[in-house]
Amino acid sequence: MEFKDIVMKRYAAKKFDGKAVPQKKIDELLELIRFAPSSFNLQTWKVKIVTDKVTKEKLKAAAWNQEQITTCSHLLVFCANTDVLGNIDHLEKTMLGNGATHEQIKGYVNMMRGFEEGMSAERKLTWAQKQCYIALGNAMNGATSLGLDSCPMEGFSPEQFAQILDLPKGLVPTVICPIGYAADSPMPKLRFKKEELFF
Ligand SMILES: Cc1cc2nc3c(=O)[nH]c(=O)nc-3n(C[C@H](O)[C@H](O)[C@H](O)COP(=O)(O)O)c2cc1C
Repeated sequence: MEFKDIVMKRYAAKKFDGKAVPQKKIDELLELIRFAPSSFNLQTWKVKIVTDKVTKEKLKAAAWNQEQITTCSHLLVFCANTDVLGNIDHLEKTMLGNGATHEQIKGYVNMMRGFEEGMSAERKLTWAQKQCYIALGNAMNGATSLGLDSCPMEGFSPEQFAQILDLPKGLVPTVICPIGYAADSPMPKLRFKKEELFF
């Protein structure tokens, strides 16, 4: 499918048919998400994947009882990883593991450490959350490209999700994206006019 067709076809599904998406397809989708760009390439996000029925029921109650949560196949919970320093260390190790030398990456790593030092905890969270949305974009369009449906969702309680999913401290649920096969039909697309958005 051409990218323009993917963009026009994707829509926020309100209900899925409950059918399980084959693991192979999910793996393909996760790869599309994994390759999303991020600031400094720090990849300050993690995705909790929920398929378990009981857990989904609990999460639904913490998400305004929205049906997508329980009718989807896989629920992706995009979490901001606020341990920016930990990710800098991780990225440094990954670059060294990929053949870079300390000398080559010293300047880059020090620049990132300096940047991190100047950030408040609040700023780190906001910044990490922004990266989640870029990954979310890949998830939504990626799902459509694979013949799947999705719905971006912010209508949930991050605190309750963190508790239900027993997330490690530092991971903040930011946006969720149920994946599956839609059991509804898209509404006609409604968007502001070109001249209202671009100036
Ligand atoms: C960040 C974000 C949060 C959203 N949260 C919800 C949500 O909680 N529940 C829902 O049904 N749709 C949610 N939506 C879907 C939007 O309502 C939908 O994308 C918008 O109306 C445009 O429709 P379309 O995606 O079908 O083109 C959300 C969309 C975005 C981008």
